Amino acid sequence: MAGNRTFTMIKPDATTAGNAGAITKIIEEAGFRIVAMKKAQLSQELAGKFYEIHKARPFYGELVAYMSSGPIVPMILEKDNAVEDFRKLIGATDPKKAEPGTIRALFAKSIDANAIHGSDSDENAAIEGNFFFSQFERF
Ligand code: RTP
Ligand code: MG
Repeated sequence: MAGNRTFTMIKPDATTAGNAGAITKIIEEAGFRIVAMKKAQLSQELAGKFYEIHKARPFYGELVAYMSSGPIVPMILEKDNAVEDFRKLIGATDPKKAEPGTIRALFAKSIDANAIHGSDSDENAAIEGNFFFSQFERF
């Protein structure tokens, strides 16, 4: 059975552009409940750890540099079928391929500055949520 929680973070491009509020509104209107939320900035070291899964990929260095370049808004979200439904809401990794109306189609600037992250499995959602939030930060 699919889990009911996912993890997301609004990336530096969207946070710096002042789009965090508009994006959060879309997320809530799509039926996701915010379990945890804050504003933070990753060091290169922490961004490297968060994206360890992509270490062998050619874009890893750029990804780590980009994700530590400015503020982010990490969140844990709750909804039935959360991981899959949230991936649909954000759209394809490359905003040029993202369905109209998705968060990336609306706000992403490029494949790197693509506005938002969404966990790709229940297992990774739990790992990523635990990376940013302790037990007493979840409501
Ligand atoms: P995310 O993890 O951020 O939700 O994105 P995703 O699942 O759609 O894509 P993923 O394959 O997990 O890649 C993580 C992030 O790395 C950047 N990327 N660049 N230049 C490239 O070919 C490339 N491919 C991926 C993107 O910023 C992507 O969100
Ligand atoms: Mg991913």
